[in-house]
Amino acid sequence: MSDKKFYIETYGCQMNFADTEVVNSILIDDGMTPVQSADEADIIFVNTCSIRENAETRVWNRLKEFRSIKKEKKHLTVGVMGCMAERIKDKIIDQEQLVDIVVGPDAYRDIPNLLAEVNDGRKAVNVLLSLEETYADITPVRTSDNGLSAFVSIMRGCDNMCAFCVVPFTRGRERSRPMESILREVQQLSDHGYKEVTLLGQNVNSYQYQDIDFTRLMDEASKVDPEMRFRFSSPHPKDFPEPLLHLIAERPNLCNYIHIPAQAGSDTMLERMRRPYTREQYLKLTKRMREIIPGVSLSTDIIAGFCGETEEEHEATMTLMEQVEYDLAYMFAYSERERTLAQRKYEDDVPEKVKKRRLSEIITQQMNIQEKRNNAEIGNVHIVLAEGTSKKSDKQLSGRSDTNKMVVFDREHYQKGDYVAVEITECTSATLIGKPLYKTTLKEFAAEATKVAV
Ligand code: SAH
Ligand code: SF4
Ligand code: F3S
Repeated sequence: MSDKKFYIETYGCQMNFADTEVVNSILIDDGMTPVQSADEADIIFVNTCSIRENAETRVWNRLKEFRSIKKEKKHLTVGVMGCMAERIKDKIIDQEQLVDIVVGPDAYRDIPNLLAEVNDGRKAVNVLLSLEETYADITPVRTSDNGLSAFVSIMRGCDNMCAFCVVPFTRGRERSRPMESILREVQQLSDHGYKEVTLLGQNVNSYQYQDIDFTRLMDEASKVDPEMRFRFSSPHPKDFPEPLLHLIAERPNLCNYIHIPAQAGSDTMLERMRRPYTREQYLKLTKRMREIIPGVSLSTDIIAGFCGETEEEHEATMTLMEQVEYDLAYMFAYSERERTLAQRKYEDDVPEKVKKRRLSEIITQQMNIQEKRNNAEIGNVHIVLAEGTSKKSDKQLSGRSDTNKMVVFDREHYQKGDYVAVEITECTSATLIGKPLYKTTLKEFAAEATKVAV
């Protein structure tokens, strides 16, 4: 047991943020107290990301800052957790003397022991990956969310081995968390007033626990609380289950929003990336999504300038994005990662300047598409979960629509946590602006929408 104060700074994806909440729980159970800033802490953990070079650079710079703080505050312990742990344990500990603890994504239960080793004057490392660990019995402690939306991890690791991606090496083999444990956490969140849950995994449609698949899990989760809405991230285009589309269409509390990462638009590139689907299959899938779930919004991840990318392949990515008309896209320049297939077998041969140019063409086109799609929303009525005061004015509330668009509207008598029917009156490429009409519920709003459609 230890009575120290700790602070965790989190980088990377939602999985990392969910893991921080697991570690909060482990440290609090050990007697420690979470604090809101690095200055107040006796122990600082940086929860790290390796996905691209610049993600790692940010962490290195931050660690150097902590090293200089440590010169004055001798008792400060600095730890690295998350996806950089395995790859750079030696570098961090031996060469740079930057940190005292390195702990990998499957070893968080060991942190209290590692801290004890540090107390005894040693450096402590545990980066073992596991085939079983899902932290199923640990109730995450959410210290920094808004009390309305939570992430719930349903699986860990990834077996897909996309040629560009480091995640299978940083997080190990894929494994699914038992459904009972997921449903228990969802129930607890509902009891604590949470209104929105995003189920997380690197490849959620390969969720498999005993005979329970992802569609069944969504079915059961959505029945826990009909007034809690659900999202999920990320599914893989290679085996997206069609029954899930029908379930989303039927259930008012399964959000009409799907993040379905394409990565690229040509068959040759998809093959080099080891993404086992073709452009045509992908387009067919997104078309089915739009047919089965009216008004669904779609988002994607795109990589520009992957190994060997020709101008034609880049064009194919542009036309794919144009055809699908995504509501949102996360767009990246390719960044070579150690141990991946691409690093071992291909040459990172698209010049930096060309990568940047292609990325900026992709981004510009996407902004135009978003503006067009948002403009088409004017006059529509959306159900918005009021998440809090808008950044620009305290007379306004902001929140996301069922379709995951940020909506800003006048506060009037509405409160954080309300579902509000909002009529869209204006927009930018990133935000919808609207007029609140009435407070509603998921069930009521869905019934209204059905009436209007009939
Ligand atoms: N499991 C998720 C992706 C997690 S990583 C999925 O498959 O959808 C998030 C995104 O980062 C990826 O979809 C990809 O677009 C991007 N990414 C991964 N490795 C990258 C690399 N080496 N360079 C650039 N972008 C990368
Ligand atoms: Fe990486 Fe591919 Fe796994 Fe996503 S599915 S985490 S991109 S290997
Ligand atoms: Fe980064 Fe690890 Fe997530 S590499 S994107 S934090 S799984």
